[in-house]
Amino acid sequence: MLTQKIEIAPSILTADFGALRSQIIEVTAAGVDRIHLDIMDGHFVPPLSFSTEVVTAVASATNLPIEVHLMVENPLKYIEMFAEAGASTHIFHFEAMQNLDSCQTVIQEIKASNSSPAVAISPNTNIDSILELMEDIEQVTVMTIEPGWGGQKLRPELLSKIIDLRKITSEMNLPNFNIEIDGGVKIDNIKQCITAGANVLVAGSAIYNDNMNPKSAVEELRIAINNSLKK
Ligand code: DX5
Ligand code: ZN
Repeated sequence: MLTQKIEIAPSILTADFGALRSQIIEVTAAGVDRIHLDIMDGHFVPPLSFSTEVVTAVASATNLPIEVHLMVENPLKYIEMFAEAGASTHIFHFEAMQNLDSCQTVIQEIKASNSSPAVAISPNTNIDSILELMEDIEQVTVMTIEPGWGGQKLRPELLSKIIDLRKITSEMNLPNFNIEIDGGVKIDNIKQCITAGANVLVAGSAIYNDNMNPKSAVEELRIAINNSLKK
C-alpha cells in the first residue's frame, strides 16, 4: 500500500491561455499539488508549445512546485533557463538521449541547477531501459499516450509499466520515489492508475475543458482519488 500522498498535477495544454493567471490561481485554491508544464520544441514532438515566459507567468501566480516536461530533442540546452524561470523538477525524455551516459550528464546538470531530475518514457520504451538511472532520479513519468497532444485517451495496456516500476521501487527500498502518470487521466480511470502504483497524476483535459470549471474538476478528481483509496 502506498503511503505517499496522491498528487494532482494540472497540465495547462488545454487551458484558456487568455486567462492563464486566473486558471492557475483557481487550481491552486482548489488544492492541487504541483503544476505540470509541457515544453515542446517542434522536433522531439511535432507541436511547439511555450517557453520560459509562460513558466515565469505561472510561477508568479502560484507557490506550488512547478515541473517542466521537456519534450525536446536537446534537454541539456534548456535546463538552466527553465530552472531560472521557476521549475523545481525537470522531466527529460529517455528517447531524446543517445545512451545512459548522456542521461547522467543531464541528471547532473539538473541537480546543479537545484532542481529534481525525472525521466519520462514514451509508450514504446520499456522500463528496463531506465532502471540503471533509478538511484539518481526522483521520479519516472510514464506516458500513457503518445507525447505531443493533450486530450488523448489513456492506453490501459501501458499501466503494467507502472505496476512493474512500483514493484521495483519497493524492492529497491525507495518509498518516496514518484511515479507519475501522464496522458488521458480521467475520473473513470483514476482507480486503475492509483492501484497500479502511480502517486502523481497529470490531468490536462480532465481539468481544463469546456464542460466544467477547473475548480469543480479538481474537486471531483480529489473525490475520485479518495474513493479509490478507500477500498
Ligand atoms: C502530452 C502532455 C500531457 C498532456 C496531458 O504530451 O505530456 O501532459 O497535456 O493532457 P491530458 O490529461 O488531456 O491527456
Ligand atoms: Zn506532460
